[in-house]
Amino acid sequence: MSAAPVILELIGATRVHGEGVRAVRALDDVTLSVRMGELVAVMGPSGSGKSTLLNLAGGLDTPTSGAVRLAGEALSDLDAKGRAALRRRRIGYVFQDLNLIPALTAAENVSLPRELDGARPRKAKQEALVALEQVGVGHLAGRFPDELSGGQQQRVAIARALVGPRRLVLADEPTGALDSVTGEAVMRVLRARVDAGAAGLLVTHEPRFAAWADRTVFLRDGVLVDSTSDEQPEALLAASGPRHRED
Ligand SMILES: Nc1ncnc2c1ncn2[C@@H]1O[C@H](COP(=O)(O)OP(=O)(O)OP(=O)(O)O)[C@@H](O)[C@H]1O
Ligand SMILES: [Mg+2]
Repeated sequence: MSAAPVILELIGATRVHGEGVRAVRALDDVTLSVRMGELVAVMGPSGSGKSTLLNLAGGLDTPTSGAVRLAGEALSDLDAKGRAALRRRRIGYVFQDLNLIPALTAAENVSLPRELDGARPRKAKQEALVALEQVGVGHLAGRFPDELSGGQQQRVAIARALVGPRRLVLADEPTGALDSVTGEAVMRVLRARVDAGAAGLLVTHEPRFAAWADRTVFLRDGVLVDSTSDEQPEALLAASGPRHRED
């Protein structure tokens, strides 16, 4: 293992939804560290806790017990406002359901977080165009989300996550709506960003995309069941039942 600094740390993180007999342990005592320069793939069947893990890592949700530390800082030490600022500045998030703002163009969706963070509008716009180019949708910068296909929207969401000096990229199935060629192109951009001085957590159901990661962790029923840097993930995936999506 390299000596690069740890950027993200989950320590015994548990997230229980609901109470009593209806309680769901979405994440169960998960301990995981991600270093700068590292891209970690997260795999596991539907409902195994992958999105929950990303939500905790990004401070969108808080653990029922255990801790999450970002760049050495415990997220529980920050209030909601502090967490929002940290997310805007440090974390690029590709949501499973994208969350593009319908009233803004592709370029505006990408530049908005930078502008909120105090970047000059002109500079934010330029950065947005570069990020959109990188994922192959620069020519669609002026379109609104409902004028884009699912895969194009997904690439806009990825551009939004990669723009500016983000240090941690959390991507929840960013290749889900993409054909394999576009998916590979997106992975190349993500890999390059991580290599250039960031870290990433990537949820994917596809071993060919997980292969871009430095290691893969597997979740089952909220428990981190294995972590590998060398092994091919197919064996574990095969053991974890059918994939829940076929695209
Ligand atoms: N707000 C909530 N209230 C109750 N249960 C929830 C809530 N959010 C998630 N869960 C449950 O927690 C478990 C983990 O959900 P999560 O969304 O993390 O799964 P996932 O691995 O991302 O699945 P998928 O591959 O389908 O996206 C599931 O059993 C889910 O039903
Ligand atoms: Mg999910």
